[in-house]
Amino acid sequence: MSEVHGQGENAENRADAFEDAFIERFAELIRLRRDVRRFRPDPVPEAILAEALQLAHLAPSVGFSQPWRFVLVEDEAKRAGAAESFRRANAAALAATAPEDRALYARLKLEGMREAPVQLAVFCDEETQTGRKLGARTMPETRSFSTVCAIHTLWLALRARGVGLGWVSILEPEEICRICEAPPGWRFIAWLCIGWPEEARAEVPELERLGWERRLPLQKLCRRV
Ligand SMILES: Cc1cc2nc3c(=O)[nH]c(=O)nc-3n(C[C@H](O)[C@H](O)[C@H](O)COP(=O)(O)O)c2cc1C
Repeated sequence: MSEVHGQGENAENRADAFEDAFIERFAELIRLRRDVRRFRPDPVPEAILAEALQLAHLAPSVGFSQPWRFVLVEDEAKRAGAAESFRRANAAALAATAPEDRALYARLKLEGMREAPVQLAVFCDEETQTGRKLGARTMPETRSFSTVCAIHTLWLALRARGVGLGWVSILEPEEICRICEAPPGWRFIAWLCIGWPEEARAEVPELERLGWERRLPLQKLCRRV
């Protein structure tokens, strides 16, 4: 797993690979992605958002179902309603947090819903006929997995342009569906805050820097059977 060059490497196998310089920059993009929670108010050019959404739309999806649905939330009252939903859900989460962790939890900034110039709600169309259910009959949740693939692609595409994305999940799904006028069959997946980050990107996630959690050693998460 750790050896990239060596066994298995020959001219034929390498023919389809991207060049080393690109691979290094791609790894850097992944290392510096970060969840962003503090934003400058400057608008994000429409062209950057459109390009990133076009790339997200190239994500893999079960049976090529393309179940992602993007809702740009521009209405101030709707944005305020979603921020209220966060406030309620976060208060409940704080109350449910172990007493010894509560003070640290309360200090964490877990959204940028008031500052980010772009607020994008992402849904999964659970009833889509696109792909005619191929691959999703025994595991319908693969449609949601596909939607998450699109979100990750969007995250990287925006980061490549210097734009930050923060994923907010501390929300009431039914309330977000109501606010976004989601049709029946759409499942709420993510609320994304998008904008120019206030801080330079770090290699270490904020939750690690603030002592909430650490990156696990990869070996602990892999095994052979
Ligand atoms: C499914 C999902 C939900 C998340 N929800 C939140 C959230 O509600 N609030 C928040 O601050 N971060 C949220 N995050 C971001 C994670 O906290 C973050 O990815 C993790 O701490 C690692 O940091 P990094 O993204 O900077 O590498 C979420 C991330 C994912 C993938």
